[in-house]
Amino acid sequence: MSNCTGHAISTLSSRRARYLSLTSSSSPGESRARATTKINSRCAAMEPAGSLLDNAVGVGDLVLLDPLSEKSIVSNLQQRFQHDFIYTYIGNVVVSLNPYKSMPIYTPAKIEQYRNSNMFELPPHIYAITDEAYRSLRDQDKNQCILITGESGAGKTEASKLIMSYIAAVCGKGQEVNKVKEQLLQSNPVLEAFGNAKTVRNDNSSRFGKYMDIEFDFKGDPLGGVITNYLLEKSRVVNQAKGERNFHIFYHLLAGAPAGLLADLKLVKDPNKYKFLNHKNCIHIEGNNDEANFIAVQQAMEVIGFAASEIRESVELVACVLKLGNVELSKVQEEESQQQNSMELLEVSDLMGLEDMVLVKALTTRTVEARGDRVSTTLNIAQACYARDALCKNLYCRLFSWLVHRINKSIKVHGESRRKVMGVLDIYGFEIFEDNSFEQFIINYCNEKLQQVFIELTLKEEQDEYIREGIEWIHIEYFNNAIICDLIENTQKGILAMLDEECLRPGIVSDSTFLQKLNNVCAQHSHFQSRLCTNSKFLSDMSLPHDCFRIQHYAGKVTYNVEGFVDKNNDLLFRDLSQAMFLAKQVLIRNLFPEGDPTCLNLKRPPTAGTQFRTSVSSLVKNLLNKNPSYIRCIKPNDHKLPCVFTEELVGHQVRYLGLLENVLVRRAGYAFRHPYEQCLQRYKILSHKTWPHWRGDARAGVETLMATLPISPEEYAFGRSKIFIRNPRTLFHLEDLRKNRMEDLATIIQKIFRGWCCRRRYQDMRKSQIIISCRYRGFSQKKRYIRKRQAAILIAAFVRGWRARKGVRRLKLDYKRHSAASTIRAFWKGYLVRKEYRKFFRANASKKIAEYILQWKLRSYLLRLRYILPGMSPLDNTWPLVPFRLVQSTHEELCKMYHDWRCRVYRSKMTPTQKAIFEEKLCASELFKGKKDIYPETVAKTFVGLHLEQGPNAKHQKLLGSLPDKLIFSELVHKIHRANGKVVTRILLLTKANMILADPKSAHIKSRIALGEVQRVSLSTLHDGIFVLHIKQGSSAALKGDFVFVSEWVIELATKLFRLIMDCTNTKLEISISNSISVQFKADEVNMQLVQAEQKNGNLPVCKRKNRILEVTVS
Ligand SMILES: Nc1ncnc2c1ncn2[C@@H]1O[C@H](COP(=O)(O)OP(=O)(O)O)[C@@H](O)[C@H]1O
Ligand SMILES: [Mg+2]
Repeated sequence: MSNCTGHAISTLSSRRARYLSLTSSSSPGESRARATTKINSRCAAMEPAGSLLDNAVGVGDLVLLDPLSEKSIVSNLQQRFQHDFIYTYIGNVVVSLNPYKSMPIYTPAKIEQYRNSNMFELPPHIYAITDEAYRSLRDQDKNQCILITGESGAGKTEASKLIMSYIAAVCGKGQEVNKVKEQLLQSNPVLEAFGNAKTVRNDNSSRFGKYMDIEFDFKGDPLGGVITNYLLEKSRVVNQAKGERNFHIFYHLLAGAPAGLLADLKLVKDPNKYKFLNHKNCIHIEGNNDEANFIAVQQAMEVIGFAASEIRESVELVACVLKLGNVELSKVQEEESQQQNSMELLEVSDLMGLEDMVLVKALTTRTVEARGDRVSTTLNIAQACYARDALCKNLYCRLFSWLVHRINKSIKVHGESRRKVMGVLDIYGFEIFEDNSFEQFIINYCNEKLQQVFIELTLKEEQDEYIREGIEWIHIEYFNNAIICDLIENTQKGILAMLDEECLRPGIVSDSTFLQKLNNVCAQHSHFQSRLCTNSKFLSDMSLPHDCFRIQHYAGKVTYNVEGFVDKNNDLLFRDLSQAMFLAKQVLIRNLFPEGDPTCLNLKRPPTAGTQFRTSVSSLVKNLLNKNPSYIRCIKPNDHKLPCVFTEELVGHQVRYLGLLENVLVRRAGYAFRHPYEQCLQRYKILSHKTWPHWRGDARAGVETLMATLPISPEEYAFGRSKIFIRNPRTLFHLEDLRKNRMEDLATIIQKIFRGWCCRRRYQDMRKSQIIISCRYRGFSQKKRYIRKRQAAILIAAFVRGWRARKGVRRLKLDYKRHSAASTIRAFWKGYLVRKEYRKFFRANASKKIAEYILQWKLRSYLLRLRYILPGMSPLDNTWPLVPFRLVQSTHEELCKMYHDWRCRVYRSKMTPTQKAIFEEKLCASELFKGKKDIYPETVAKTFVGLHLEQGPNAKHQKLLGSLPDKLIFSELVHKIHRANGKVVTRILLLTKANMILADPKSAHIKSRIALGEVQRVSLSTLHDGIFVLHIKQGSSAALKGDFVFVSEWVIELATKLFRLIMDCTNTKLEISISNSISVQFKADEVNMQLVQAEQKNGNLPVCKRKNRILEVTVS
């Protein structure tokens, strides 16, 4: 709250301070003005400006200055300048002070601010006037021109660039438009490089006049333009004043050209090596980068559309000029006679594409045609130097004009559509040097003409406005410089006419004859002075040299030295030189000198420089008068190019000659200030209750009503058609004062209402909160009471319920006890009766039932347990759980058997056919020999392999085996017991499906073959031996020798296989007798074989002893 009030008060005080500043120039206390200005500047920085009248330091429009005098104008400008307000208006004329420092007021944000806003709504700015002109061109279809005038170095060129950049920023966009904009903008660096130079007044002084017409389409988009250039100061090429430089391009080229280019141009980097550059000892400009500028110029030329060859030719021409300057003509002349030329000259002619002798001749001789004869005379050194310098100046000047022409070609608008034009005139400013020559005369003449335009147009515009608005016009006196213009341009008696006359006159013509003429003709003129002038009042003026004349220009007195006037006006180039240049192979040079073409000799004298200039200036003036003008009047604050330095005298002088005071007077003649009705009503409607806060009717009626209610005399203002005119600045300030007071009142009202509102709000807030608090508190306490009561009620209820419940429980418990007692008694009684009834049945069957039950239970638990203790699935596993009790002995055994059978079956089912055959064989062996012969158990675990004979590499054996008629089942190397003596021999025993074959193991000859059908029976002992007796059927072919007795290692296998084979083959069971006494038939003898078991001495073979019919066999 207090902050708000504080801010409001500070705002009001700042407004007050601003108001004071508005009237400061009228107040006698300077110190007060200064103090208020300080406050103002701070405010200006803090707040956005709303109007020309707001936030101003001094007055933003000199029209409002009171009292009005030259002094007050200067002090107002100074005051503003010191606070970095470099622009001030006089109506719609902008007075611009050169700040000589970069200012933060040209940003895109500023452009945006000024774009489409009313000129007087914002602080004065070059953008505001440009925007006004641009909008007038675009919206009202009026051709515009912006005239920038001022001394050299006052900031004209910078202003013109700002104008162009503003227009480029605010006009339309698009590829084509942007290209045009770029070309227009880029023409500046090119023209500046070739046409600007450092002078004592300005480091970047334009040495030519420039008028640029920018052409727009109906939408306000730029289409192109035309540049007109005026009189380049070409004398600078060969000579510069002290502390000045030649045109920038020379230095740019030397500093910026790459080494290769310099070598091609036969130049060296050091500018000191060139006479045109070194003789005034000023090569570098502080803060200027020649090297970068050269690149920028090249790029700009490319953007504009110069071909690479054109750029190259331009720099070649610049190089030619530089090098020509170094040609020493004294030497050339000597050398010409010796037919050898200086290096420099050779290089120049090479660059130009000329034969060196042609150039030498052109420079050193002059051909005169007199009555059809051509006479060639040799020039003396001074003449030759003059010719050389003339050539250099001409070359450069023509190059410059060509550049302008070439740029125009690029930016020319094609098509015939209707265009609107905005002209920007940046012409050289008024110049007063120590030594003023023809150039200064011309320049200052041009400025006189522009001043004329200015005076005419401002007055005319002012007059027009009064007429337009229907206001009475009161004539105002001002200095009209038409008289000076007349002194110069009068076609009969004007200085230029005199000069032309002198130039064209036959006979001896010199600058002094010209001065004499002036002395005679212009003597009476009030603005002309010379030493010998018949106007006697100047005769005593010793400061005026004899060869000079002085003109009292609108901007001051200027003394001109007549030396060179005639020559410069003639501006003639010896024909020998132009003809030589026409011969050049360098295209550009050749094209620049069309008059050198010998085939089209034009003997007509070209118009003099003065006439040319006068014509172009008058056409310029005519052009300007047709357009809606805007002015920028540039002022130089000091002579030292320093920022923040304001030389009152210097500015006072400029204010005087620019006629600013008169401008203000004219502007104020009659009415000092004018306001469109809408704006006026908007600003001052707060002053009357009839118009505040809303005026519903027409703006003019509103303003009339408003003014009628104010304490202002009706003579002080007049109503125009669209504006109100205020006669006296004091009236405006009075209005402003009223407005300010009213604003203060309004502020007080606002403050009062705001405070009341704040208090009311606060009270309402407090009331609201009080209600909320009490209501919350009441609620809270009620809730608390309620909770307490509720808790008490719950407690009481609980106690009562508890008491009741306990009482009930007690009764129920008693009932229950009684009930259960009755039930118990009844049960006991019933039980007693039942027991009594059934006791007899119970005693009769109880033991049996129990026994049965126990038995059942035991059997069940045995069977259930059995499954957990069963042995493995191997048929060979003999383990079996012990029988738990005898009662189940038989069952247990039966189950064992069943289980074994089952696992055998399972085992069998998993057997392969081969395994099955083996087991069948084994089974057969078991049936035959188990428990009958001692050796049998040993054989059980051994598989019946069948073929025991070694299948070695013995060929005889192989042959024997191969000759067998059927499949071999068994083979072994057996021992055969000799029938007669019981000796043992080895035989191969082969058992096939149908035969038993005995063969000699060495020879493999078959000894005997017994068909299986011939076998009667087989005998074996019970002992642990391999005796095998084969009984042959009596009568068969094999029975001749009798039965066979073998000792076989595999006796069980042999017997079993034989048994099975005979069974297969004859389907009869072979008889196998097992006994230790075997009756054997040896041929006719029947021998009894007795087997005895005894300790053997000679191995395992049995020992046989035959004693008649007894064969005793001892086995181990
Ligand atoms: N608005 C400006 N802001 C900053 N510097 C400026 C401004 N106007 C002029 N200058 C400075 O003054 C110098 C001279 O200005 P210029 O426009 O070349 O003068 P003129 O064309 O009138 O001879 C410029 O090179 C620049 O340094
Ligand atoms: Mg300039």
